Amino acid sequence: MNETSIRKKEHLDLCINEDVAFKSKTTGFERYDFLHDAITEVKIDKINFAGKFLKKKIDYPFLISCMTGGTNESEKINTKLAVVAEKLKIPVGVGSQRQALEDNNFEESYKIIRKNAPGVPVLGNIGAAEVVKYKSSQKFQKLVDLIEADAMVVHVNPLQELIQHEGNPNFRGLLKNISKLVKNLNVPVIIKEVGSGISVRVTKRLLEAGVFGIDVAGAGGTSWAGVELLRNDVNTENYFWDWGLPTSFCIKEISKLKNNYKFTIIGSGGINTSIDAAKAFALGADLVASARTVLKELDKNGVDGVIDLIDNWFTDLKKIMYLTGSNSLKQFKKNKIIRKELLY
Ligand SMILES: Cc1cc2nc3c(=O)[nH]c(=O)nc-3n(C[C@H](O)[C@H](O)[C@H](O)COP(=O)(O)O)c2cc1C
Repeated sequence: MNETSIRKKEHLDLCINEDVAFKSKTTGFERYDFLHDAITEVKIDKINFAGKFLKKKIDYPFLISCMTGGTNESEKINTKLAVVAEKLKIPVGVGSQRQALEDNNFEESYKIIRKNAPGVPVLGNIGAAEVVKYKSSQKFQKLVDLIEADAMVVHVNPLQELIQHEGNPNFRGLLKNISKLVKNLNVPVIIKEVGSGISVRVTKRLLEAGVFGIDVAGAGGTSWAGVELLRNDVNTENYFWDWGLPTSFCIKEISKLKNNYKFTIIGSGGINTSIDAAKAFALGADLVASARTVLKELDKNGVDGVIDLIDNWFTDLKKIMYLTGSNSLKQFKKNKIIRKELLY
């Protein structure tokens, strides 16, 4: 195994077996409640989540977040995640394809996703550090082609690069290279964080650069500073464990930009329950995404466990939509949620 494969394996092990959640900072979802509609006329059986994402039909606006690739273990995990995605007709992301840039030993661990999920949107993934390092977009187009990706996700993770021993926090030229990618790739580009969130100011600059979507990956879920601190085996009582903008704040704030820009918002970072997912939609997310909770469920209860988990989340969401008088997610995004301090 090369250095990147070993790191990927350590990430998986830590995310499955250790507590790598934020310590005291939360997503902020717990600060909201739903606005009950005592005269709801919604027909719960008529609520339908089917729609289109990246020109493909999907049954739920739920994305299995980019997680893994580049190790034997990840090939098995990706196979299962792809089976879930195809069964539920939901989009799925691959983990960082950096390995595939470096050598072709692990190409199969990425390709396996498309093989098992031929009919759904599949998202490629690469880190900001690589986007800065390689000037030519051709290399990234190859990554798109490798998995017949429907979009390319660039993860921006300055905190993780800073804390990781072998990390590369040099992002100089990133925005320029992102606009180059937008122009040169034959698929849309989505920008995601990995748990520190994306602000309105950053979103604006990215939208001006032409990106298709923003996955906020805000604070309150998995702490990637936490994962790296545990890997480094240093004092984990570290201020940076809890660094970042809470997921609820990011979704609510950047959704205001919809008045001026056309783009897709993916709400993620600590989407661990049906209620988290519902609040993310109510605050403005077009899709929600989840990583560690899905991984842990897969580890514990396999493919069927993950399918049940996601099905159950959307069953709960229907109940919440019924109780808030929302026939559609579009209606659900309009004033159906309230900050708790206003209730008392
Ligand atoms: C095991 C694991 C590996 C991950 N690897 C990647 C990756 O390669 N690329 C990426 O963009 N995000 C990666 N992430 C970050 C997630 O996509 C997500 O943004 C982050 O964990 C926050 O979501 P969560 O709170 O639902 O876990 C990974 C997450 C996990 C749990």
